[in-house]
Amino acid sequence: MAGRDVAPRTAAFGVLRDVSAGAYADRAAARRFETLSPRDRRLAQELAYGTIRLRARLDAELSTLSTRPLDQLDAAVLDALRLGLYQVRETRIPAHAAVNETMDAVRGQVSRSARGFLNAVLRRAVRGEPDSGVFGDLDEDPVRYLATWGSHPEWLVRRWLDRWPLAAVRRLIENDNRPPPVTLRLLNDTVSPEDWERFAAVGLERLAGLPHMARLTGGAPAEAMRRAHAIAQDPAASCVVDYVSDNLDGPVLDACAAPGGKTMGLWHASSARPLIAADISLERLLQVRQAAQDTGAEPALLVMDARFPAIRSARTVLLDVPCSGTGVLRRRPDARWRITAGRIEALVARQREMIEAAAALVEPGGVLVYATCSLEPEENEQQVEWFVARHPEFERDKEGQARGTDLFVAPWEHESDGAFASRLRKRRNG
Ligand SMILES: C[S@@+](CC[C@H](N)C(=O)[O-])C[C@H]1O[C@@H](n2cnc3c(N)ncnc32)[C@H](O)[C@@H]1O
Repeated sequence: MAGRDVAPRTAAFGVLRDVSAGAYADRAAARRFETLSPRDRRLAQELAYGTIRLRARLDAELSTLSTRPLDQLDAAVLDALRLGLYQVRETRIPAHAAVNETMDAVRGQVSRSARGFLNAVLRRAVRGEPDSGVFGDLDEDPVRYLATWGSHPEWLVRRWLDRWPLAAVRRLIENDNRPPPVTLRLLNDTVSPEDWERFAAVGLERLAGLPHMARLTGGAPAEAMRRAHAIAQDPAASCVVDYVSDNLDGPVLDACAAPGGKTMGLWHASSARPLIAADISLERLLQVRQAAQDTGAEPALLVMDARFPAIRSARTVLLDVPCSGTGVLRRRPDARWRITAGRIEALVARQREMIEAAAALVEPGGVLVYATCSLEPEENEQQVEWFVARHPEFERDKEGQARGTDLFVAPWEHESDGAFASRLRKRRNG
C-alpha cells in the first residue's frame, strides 16, 4: 500500500524538479508518468500540477513555517516542502500520510539533515492552519492577496487590476487555479434527443446555451469523442470556430493550425474548400494529421512559416498566432511563472510580422481572422488597431454575424478559457 502511494509522489516530485530546472510541465509529466498506472497518473498529475499552480500560495505560508528564508534553501528541499504542504492544505489526503509519503518519495534526493528540516516544517504545518495574516486581505491589499492566495505573479495581477474590476480579476484568478473540465465540441451538424441519450451513457452532458458542446462528467475522453464524433475543445476556442466559420469562403488557410482543434471544427462546420492546415512545426502538424484521421477530415497539410508563406493567395486566412496564453493559464500550470512583460513585447513583434505576411495573401473581398488565446490588449485589440491603421484596405468585417465587432471571451464570465478574434475584410477595391 505504502509503496503504491509513493510512486505517484516520486513522479510528481520529479516533475517539480524538472520544472524548477526550466522544463515544461506537460513534457516533464509525459516523461515521468509514462510507466504509472492510470490511477497513479491521475494522482501524480494532480499533485504536480496543483503544486506548480499554487506555488506562490504555498511559498507564502512556507515562509512563515520555515526557520530559514526560502531563497536560501536548496531547490530540491523547497520543491519537497511545496509538494508536502500542497497535500496537507489542498487535498483530502490525511495529513500524516501526506507527510510520511512525501518524506519517502524524496528519500535519496535531499540530504539527511535536510530531511530533518523538511519533516519539522511539514509537521508544523499539520499542527495548525496558516496564520490569517499570511495572505493579507482582498479588499485592503488586493495585489498582495491575489499574488499570494491567488498564486499569480504580482506584475500580472497589477496589470489586470488596472484594466478590470476587482471582482472580475478575482474570478479570473480562481478560474486559473481550477483544473479545466473536459469539454467536447460535437462535429455533426445536428444532435437529436436520442443522440443525447446515447451520449449520456458515455458520461456526456449538455453545456447550457451551447448546442454543440458537451461536458464529460466521467469515463474516458477518447471513448466519448469516438462515440459522439467530437473533439476536445474549450467553449472559448469553439466560439472562435463559430466566429470564423460564419459566411466562410474557400480557399481557407489556417496558418497556425496545430494541434488542429480549430481546423477540425472548421472542416466540419463549413463546406468551404480547400482547407489548408499549415504550421511551422512538422511535429505539431502530425498532431493535426492524427486529429484529421480521427474525425474524418481531409485538410491539406503544409509545413510553413506564416511569415514567409508558401502559397500565393486565399479567400480566408485564419491566423491563430502564438501568444502569451494568458487566457489559458488553467491548462498550463507553469505558464504563469514563465510569462514576462518582455516576452509579451517579443510576441507582439512576432505577431506583427505574421499579420503583415498573412494580409498580403488575402484576396480582395476576402477575410483575415486574427485570433489569440491571450487576454492582453497589446496582443489583441491594440494589435488589430495597429494593423488597420497601416492597412486602410482592411476594415472590420461588417457582413455576417460579427457585424464589425471583435470576439472576446472573458474567462470570468463563463468559467471558460479566454479567447480573442477579429474578422477583417479586405476591400474589393483595396
Ligand atoms: C495558438 S497555437 C494554434 C492552435 C490551433 N489553431 C488550434 O486551434 O489547435 C499556435 C501555433 O502556431 C505555430 N507557429 C508558431 N510560429 C509560427 C510561424 N511563424 N508560422 C506558422 N506557425 C507558427 C505553433 O507551432 C503553434 O502550433
